[in-house]
Amino acid sequence: MHNFYKKLIIAVLPLFLATFAFADVHVVDHPLVQHKLTLMREKETSSCEFRRLLREIAMFLTYEATRDLTTKQIDIETPISQMSAPMLSGKKLCFVSILRAGNGLLEGMLELVPSARVAHIGMYRDPETLTPVEYYFKTPPEMDSRDAFVVDPMLATGNTAIASISRLKEKHPKSIRFICLVAAPEGIRNLQAAHPDVEIYVAAIDEKLNEYAYIVPGLGDAGDRMYGTVDLLNKVHPGI
Ligand code: URA
Repeated sequence: MHNFYKKLIIAVLPLFLATFAFADVHVVDHPLVQHKLTLMREKETSSCEFRRLLREIAMFLTYEATRDLTTKQIDIETPISQMSAPMLSGKKLCFVSILRAGNGLLEGMLELVPSARVAHIGMYRDPETLTPVEYYFKTPPEMDSRDAFVVDPMLATGNTAIASISRLKEKHPKSIRFICLVAAPEGIRNLQAAHPDVEIYVAAIDEKLNEYAYIVPGLGDAGDRMYGTVDLLNKVHPGI
């Protein structure tokens, strides 16, 4: 294929996928988010910088994901006069972090909504079968009257997100949204097929998965990059 058409397809594919191929996928394409994400993708970006950028992007993603929260009017008094003003209604939100990388997004989310409750789900991906194995699950009380926001930076095969959301549904939250940084088209398709009721908020939909189920071009292993547990420059990780 002519180079120009290849480049054109690569440029418009994410936008096409976001607009037509998946319902209920919200691509947060704000220029600041895209700029910060590009910095995160670069392999020279330090762990410290990576965590800071993830925290900042988390605030933008949360801003979008909480756009339709319900409010109630309350009576207050300003220094000038009385007024009826909006406040969030209902029980406190629940942010659900899929360990360990979810914690990077969680930090920024809690800066934006400090009163939110937090659940943790520990799932690791079996490197052979790529299926998720649960090792930790803890949620706050009264989940049935809370909106849940499940977070994990990378939506790759979708297996971990699907298993985590299935487990969370045993607690019957009022609603569930999924927030991630980068998704593969396969992960979005799988998650939507398993949980069509869950809306997805993402900063970018990338091209594909590689044979190690890493997102291409992606940013590598988000957990490793956050915590400096792999030597990226020397490419010691098999998935890179
Ligand atoms: N998990 C990651 O951290 N990165 C990927 O590319 C895929 C899964």
